Formats: sequence, C-alpha cells, structure tokens
Amino acid sequence: MAPPSRRLRLAPSLLSADFADLAGAIRLAEAGGADAFHLDVMDGHFVPNISFGPALVRAVRARTRLPLDVHLMIERPESFVEAFAKAGGDTLVFHLEATVAAPTLVERVHSLGARVGAALRPDTPFENVVPLLPKLDQVLVMSVNPGFSGQSFLPVALPKIRQARRALDALGSPADVSVDGGVTPETAVGAAQHGATFFVCGNSVFAQGDVAENLKTLRASVAEGAGRAVH
Ligand code: DX5
Ligand code: ZN
Repeated sequence: MAPPSRRLRLAPSLLSADFADLAGAIRLAEAGGADAFHLDVMDGHFVPNISFGPALVRAVRARTRLPLDVHLMIERPESFVEAFAKAGGDTLVFHLEATVAAPTLVERVHSLGARVGAALRPDTPFENVVPLLPKLDQVLVMSVNPGFSGQSFLPVALPKIRQARRALDALGSPADVSVDGGVTPETAVGAAQHGATFFVCGNSVFAQGDVAENLKTLRASVAEGAGRAVH
C-alpha cells in the first residue's frame, strides 16, 4: 500500500529577509501562505558566519503563531537548546557533525517540550543519522554547505532525501524530511520527487519579486514534484 500522502510545507528562511523589517517580512509570508518560519542560527565556529541567537527567536515568536523551525548551525548545541526552547522554538534542529552525544541531545530537546531534528551537511553520509531515526521528528538534508543563503542547490542531496524518506517510511515514522539550501521553483520539483516534505526557502521567497507570488510558485513546484514521486 502506498504511504499516505503527506502535507508539503513551505518554510521561508528569515535569514534572507530584511533584518530591519522582520515584522513586515513575517506578515507578508504569513499572508502568502507560509506554513512555518525557518531561523538560521550561526555561531561563527561551526559555520563561517554569524547570524542571531535566542533573543531574535523570541522576537519572532511574538509576531507569529506559525511554527518556528530553529536550525542550529552551532558548536555545542547541548549548551543552547534550553535557551532556544524557552525562546519559543517549536523544532530545534542540531547538526550531527556538531555533537558527540546526539542520542542524549534528542532526549533533552524532547524533555524541553520541543520537536527535534537532525541536520546533515552535504558531505555527511546518510548512514550517520540512521541510529537516531526512530526518535526524530525531522531529518534536515542540507543541499548547500551551511553558512550563507543564496547558494546553488547541490544535487548530492537528492539521493539522501530519498534514503531518509524510505528509512522513515520503513519505520512507520511521520517525521519530515526537510531540504535546506538553494530551493527554487526549479530545484523544489526534484526535492519533492525524492520525498522531501518540508522546504526551506530563503532567497526564492525574499530576494526579489512579490513574497506571496513567490510562495505560490514554490507551492506549485512542490505539488508537481510530489505528483511525480520517485521515492
Ligand atoms: C544556509 C541556511 C539556509 C539558508 C537558505 O546555511 O541553512 O537555511 O537560509 O537560503 P537559500 O534558500 O537562499 O539557499
Ligand atoms: Zn537553514
């Protein structure tokens, strides 16, 4: 029997929005049908860039009721998950490469009342996340090297998306497979075909044009891809 069809969700990444008018960006994206917001936390160590911390997550929390997907591109994520959960993050996504104690971290995030995701850089093999799968709410497959918005989609992510979806389906897990980096109306089709259900979109939502129109175009692409599934 085919697995039940899943909800496909679009999560605009606020890293690509105007930081001086985040409230405006949130309003436009919500009105345009966004399903969640993705917040990219960068520490200048795990990635060669610095973005923002819990204070900004708290400020965004006060402006929207949509779920907040907090992508922790930081070293020692275990030291910070409590602050991000308290700030209002709904899903805390840590990088497998950033911790040696992933199973404990997963438990800890759940005990804080948040959902938990594990992210894989493009050069991290899928096998590394397999032991955690039964406990995860999301697997985030990076389709660019983390650190910056506006990069080009790396096709190496596609087989990993498919592996993740198949392995989760085999477990009967409803966890999302999230794709992050270079998601555009063109690349979203392939990601959806391979089984992604959660699409992080930075520049393709905020860099140019109309936010609502951009979301509409992306929505059509993911529906098209999911309709031609290869997973
Ligand atoms: C990159 C971040 C992404 C980024 C996506 O390190 O994890 O979430 O904001 O931006 P685009 O969609 O422009 O690649
Ligand atoms: Zn991200």
